[in-house]
Amino acid sequence: MKTIVLASRNVDKIEELCSTLKDFGVELKSALDFPELKEVEEDKNTLEGNALKKARYVFQQTGLPALGDDTGLEVDALDGRPGVYSARYAGEDVTYQQNVDKLLEELAGVAPKDRGAQFRTIVAFVTENETHTFEGVCRGRILREEKGTGGFGYDPVFQPAEYEQTFAELDAEIKNKISHRGKAIEKLTAFLGK
Ligand code: IMP
Repeated sequence: MKTIVLASRNVDKIEELCSTLKDFGVELKSALDFPELKEVEEDKNTLEGNALKKARYVFQQTGLPALGDDTGLEVDALDGRPGVYSARYAGEDVTYQQNVDKLLEELAGVAPKDRGAQFRTIVAFVTENETHTFEGVCRGRILREEKGTGGFGYDPVFQPAEYEQTFAELDAEIKNKISHRGKAIEKLTAFLGK
């Protein structure tokens, strides 16, 4: 079984990826398995930059093939914001709830037809010999209020296109299939299977 290390300590993300990659004969480890790894600051101004920075650091430290990812919520009415700054949209060290509250506040006067948005993920894969990036996009819209208790982050206010439920209401299995991260990982697994 191939081992790949994910440059993250985010349990939600690790669980989501672990179940997807298992089907492809990949054992996913994470920064939780390597306590000596430092937190990589996501200080680049693109998703690609942050994903690559994280994967390169983990590869250098562990010598194992490494994955780094970064996701942004790009809201049409906000010209693509918060984008790469989605985690700290409402400020440094804020909760998911504070970010969601700020988003709903900023979009308060925006009509339903103009509430389009997308999640975009870049997954970077770094080994001794190669560096690749994979992109996944999930289109949808931002609701006026939160619905559902599953998932994390902006899930309770994001309704993917062609669904009546938010990401926080959909089964994790469905979310994993249609999500930005799911699509980026699908490209990664297609690449790994070659
Ligand atoms: P990260 O840097 O990839 O962890 O993502 C940045 C921020 O985007 C996170 O803090 C979350 O608020 C948000 N985010 C990332 N992925 C998702 C998702 O699948 N659903 C909802 N929010 C997400």
